Amino acid sequence: MTFDLVIRGGTIVTASDVTKADLGIRDGRIAAIAEHIADGERVIDATGRLVLPGGIDAHCHLDQPQAPGLASKGAKMADGFRSGSISAAFGGTTTIVPFCVQHRGTSLTAAVDDYHRRAEGQSVTDYAFHLIVSDPTPAVLGQELPALIRRGHTSLKVYMTYDAMQLSDRQILDVFETAREEKAVMLIHAENHEMIGWLADRLEKQGRTKPVAHATSRPLAVEREATHRAVTLAEIAGVPLVIVHVSGGDPLEEIRRARARGHVVIAETCPQYLLLTEADLEMPDMLGAKAMCSPPPRDTAAQAALWQGIEDGTIDIFNSDHAPYCFDQDGKLKAGPAASFRAIANGIPGLETRLPILFSEGVVKGRIDLPRFVALTATNNAKLYGLHPQKGTIAVGADADLAIWDPEKRVTITNDILHHNVDYTPFEGLEIQGWPETMVSRGEVIVENRELKAAPGRGRFLTQKTSSAWKTREINAWI
Ligand code: URP
Ligand code: ZN
Ligand code: ZN
Ligand code: ZN
Repeated sequence: MTFDLVIRGGTIVTASDVTKADLGIRDGRIAAIAEHIADGERVIDATGRLVLPGGIDAHCHLDQPQAPGLASKGAKMADGFRSGSISAAFGGTTTIVPFCVQHRGTSLTAAVDDYHRRAEGQSVTDYAFHLIVSDPTPAVLGQELPALIRRGHTSLKVYMTYDAMQLSDRQILDVFETAREEKAVMLIHAENHEMIGWLADRLEKQGRTKPVAHATSRPLAVEREATHRAVTLAEIAGVPLVIVHVSGGDPLEEIRRARARGHVVIAETCPQYLLLTEADLEMPDMLGAKAMCSPPPRDTAAQAALWQGIEDGTIDIFNSDHAPYCFDQDGKLKAGPAASFRAIANGIPGLETRLPILFSEGVVKGRIDLPRFVALTATNNAKLYGLHPQKGTIAVGADADLAIWDPEKRVTITNDILHHNVDYTPFEGLEIQGWPETMVSRGEVIVENRELKAAPGRGRFLTQKTSSAWKTREINAWI
């Protein structure tokens, strides 16, 4: 039987190996990996190229309805599943996991049904979604959540800050309890809400309302305290915990200490924390709003601490936290052209630049090797979020989700080469080396020669299995 697609002569990289081999693909899956495979219906010559598992971006926000009554006055996300997944695909990613948010006073199940409708017919890549629990009523904890987890939404996020989403410690313990009973994995946004509120009030009273005040109102200590509390809550409830978007050394230290005590705590960081600093928020004319995310970018010491965490295995996953707000009056500046930092929507875009940035800054600069790159950007996300071995690796039987990289290609990142609907990139002008050229999803070429080859809607919803974080009580054994 011939193959539908043969990828010939490439260097295949997984989280554990680098080998030269051909790949044979049939019915959307990898059917053979061998030194030489005879021609199939179609052959792609990958000589001089790297063949990687398609990236998994397990932290992105797409078409997420904003909670009513926020200071940023309903700033609208510029990307939904269509442009978001297209942008992801051009950047080397074949699976996205955005967030389905429950707003207070509404049913979580209704939010999930609504989010399925938003995705329907749109995505070019496969997708799953995490659930954000912002109203853990007895019905949500006792009936809705257990049913949704059993339906394949096995990862849940809670927030320790943002007025509309923040849970008390007691509510967090309640959600953790249901997660433990149903073996869901918990994600947490760890910043101390009271401290941020107090600092922000004080800054406003002093008339300090420019974007840089956003960073001043959320110092690293705010994140360190919340991280300490989050891992302690997880210890008490007995659940594995993912600390998302870690921005510097202090919270990492809290994570290391929790792990040393024997708890399964997984750390994520994002490109903005490796490349941006608070100085980016000091740009004139509100331009600093382009670098406003929470936690905020810090300083070069924080960047060095994060690289250390990536190298020593404290940080195991690397995602974009793509939050697609335009700089214009529909997005960041919805509350006005000189809005206070408190009324500017948080988050920056990055689905398409995530992998090229880590490849260039990490692999090309010799900080990490190729298998570690694959582990951080694909395999660990797949294991952690119950998608492995269907996703996140190159193995016989796995979905043929592949990124064929030109490791030499030099690119200057500018917003006009990107495919998101956001009107800026915070990485404008960054020169990098290495770019994903050809993208394959379930055996179908979806990007080739800088062109989209796939129809929106071809992407499938993925039901998540139980996280590998539940399969062990041993630190690091989950990967
Ligand atoms: O500033 C950020 N990160 N916005 C997106 C929402 C979140 O907190 O992850
Ligand atoms: Zn569902
Ligand atoms: Zn967050
Ligand atoms: Zn986020």
